[in-house]
Amino acid sequence: MKICSAFCLLMLFVCSSLSAQTVSFSKDVVPLVKAKCIKCHEKDDENPNSFAMDNYELTKTSGKTKNMIVPGDGTNSYLVIKLLPKPPKGAQMPIFSKKKLTEEEVDIFKTWIDQGAKDN
Ligand code: HEC
Repeated sequence: MKICSAFCLLMLFVCSSLSAQTVSFSKDVVPLVKAKCIKCHEKDDENPNSFAMDNYELTKTSGKTKNMIVPGDGTNSYLVIKLLPKPPKGAQMPIFSKKKLTEEEVDIFKTWIDQGAKDN
């Protein structure tokens, strides 16, 4: 019993310290976008509706979907939903790639939005 509660306390501590880490747009999100998304999500003047991730402004404002980024709510942000299997529309991102994002990579997007989707 004692060991168990000590373990639970430890896990609680580990988990809360992990979620307390701040995700930075420029240091965490941008490198991931550059590696996995930008080749298909660059601003294209011929298709102004498409979702462009060239910079912070475009990432927050472009795309056809209203709930693309819901600051404070990663779970209900379409950007995160599109990274998980079987999104409601279209394909899981990155499309055409056998290598989907790892859980940690999805978490970078999700936590960044959970923390308010700031330009940090
Ligand atoms: C090989 C090209 C390609 C890559 C790489 C790619 N995408 Fe996409 N993305 C597309 C295409 C094509 C669509 C439109 C079709 C669809 O929604 O399935 C799309 C649609 C989307 C949408 C929905 C846009 C809207 O306005 O509804 C989101 C969000 C998205 N992608 C996010 C990402 C993210 C984040 C990454 C990187 C992890 C990524 N994509 C990587 C090609 C790509």
